[in-house]
Amino acid sequence: MQKSPASSISRLTIARPDDWHLHIRDGEMMAAVLPHSAHQFARAIIMPNLPRPVVTSADAAAYRARITAALPQGTDFTPLMTAYLTDHSDATDLIDGHGAGILTAAKLYPAHATTGSQHGVTDIAALYPIFAAMERAGMPLLLHGEVTDRDVDIFDREAVFIERTLVPMARDFPSLRIVLEHITTRQAVDFIDAAGENIAATITPQHLHINRNAMFDGGIRPHAYCLPVAKREGHRIALCRAATSGSAKYFLGTDSAPHLVGAKEAACGCAGIFNAPFALESYIQIFDEAEALENFEAFASLSGPAFYRLPVNEARVTLERAETPVPEQITAAGSHIIPFHAGEVLGWRIAPQL
Ligand code: NCD
Ligand code: ZN
Repeated sequence: MQKSPASSISRLTIARPDDWHLHIRDGEMMAAVLPHSAHQFARAIIMPNLPRPVVTSADAAAYRARITAALPQGTDFTPLMTAYLTDHSDATDLIDGHGAGILTAAKLYPAHATTGSQHGVTDIAALYPIFAAMERAGMPLLLHGEVTDRDVDIFDREAVFIERTLVPMARDFPSLRIVLEHITTRQAVDFIDAAGENIAATITPQHLHINRNAMFDGGIRPHAYCLPVAKREGHRIALCRAATSGSAKYFLGTDSAPHLVGAKEAACGCAGIFNAPFALESYIQIFDEAEALENFEAFASLSGPAFYRLPVNEARVTLERAETPVPEQITAAGSHIIPFHAGEVLGWRIAPQL
């Protein structure tokens, strides 16, 4: 869907953005995808859902060292590490890791909610002592906000999670700092708008661009499938309003989740959309169409650091209006990945550094 430019602004210079939700995997795949994120962002919250998840502070320190070693020479990119909560997580290790600057946050995946969540939490109430310790330490809790009961319709799983799990959690831990990740519904926006300042949300580019029709456009479209799944158009509109509103409660988190083409185009294809190479170009188009370019810096560069109590990046980046073709595929790990917007022409680009 190409629309004409909504405003006459043709260049926008902002503090360098960060990605507050990113999957970069490990090994060969990491080597292929990491340069894309490092080009776009100064920092990223690194998701811990490796095949053997990042559970302890020691796991996170080792993973951080592998990421740093894989960065191209001279790249200015800081990985911010997270620990994957399990039924056996150790509160002392998490809080010590946070205090030592190894762990920025902890991530809660309800068991079997998504890719790599088979080790996730089966009984959220059993984690209450950990939440209490995190609340005291000011350590953010990042939520994959979907119930996993097979009797709940997949399109309702986020709304039901908010009602069943998040509302009681926010009541029981009134100062726990929570990020509801990759929100997809109007119910999530309503919850976040009404919640205290300690609760925020990330929004992905795909949930701003596509609704659930994209998964069935003339046939089954595995590259439009991620979790939480895209919802109806009314939800997409609510997300666009929230993202472009200038509210400090919504910030950028791509959920870029690379899977090789063979794992996506399969009888049981993986969930995940790889948007890292053109993430900023994708997001800014939404702000342009909403005539809200003046709020882009808050979403991309200011509200995330404010929530995480980190400084805004000193470096600046310019985005400029220019036709930007997105390739059909990106080479990775002896195969390729189909990126978000493959084959489309976006209306903005990151201005080349002079
Ligand atoms: C993510 C992945 O592939 O790791 N997939 C996705 O659809 N978003 C996992 C996740 O964050 O849910
Ligand atoms: Zn994710």
